[in-house]
Amino acid sequence: MQINEQNDFRPTVVAFCCNWCSYAGADLAGNNRLSYPADVKIIRVPCSCRVNPMFLLRAFGRGADGVILCGCHPGDCHYTTGNYFTRRRMTALFSMLSYLGIERQRMRVEWVSAAEGAKFAAVMKAFCETVRELGPSRRLEDLRCRK
Ligand code: FES
Repeated sequence: MQINEQNDFRPTVVAFCCNWCSYAGADLAGNNRLSYPADVKIIRVPCSCRVNPMFLLRAFGRGADGVILCGCHPGDCHYTTGNYFTRRRMTALFSMLSYLGIERQRMRVEWVSAAEGAKFAAVMKAFCETVRELGPSRRLEDLRCRK
């Protein structure tokens, strides 16, 4: 019974994508008819550095099983240095994940340019599969809104 539940599990994956590269990459994947799982819910942000690390933790609190942050490649940020701040912040957040009891594999940072639609689709497929194998995220479920 549990094995079937695990096999049927469809993760909720939240993807924060910067407007200038990663969101355009997702758009390109769509235009080129490259499929990626519908479990991915994209949140478009002006730049990856706009994403406060608390947004990622809040996503888990609100029911996400995996969270991915996508931005321009280092050196290509539309705002020059935004993704350098992202990289430092995410390094700090990753070091705290085990303390919070969240598996490291549930969170990922990826640099995807506007020309990398195929990469975007491949990354999302691989990340969804990883999260699906981990199963539902229950660590922060106390924070989830209940009706
Ligand atoms: Fe894409 Fe800054 S605009 S990471």
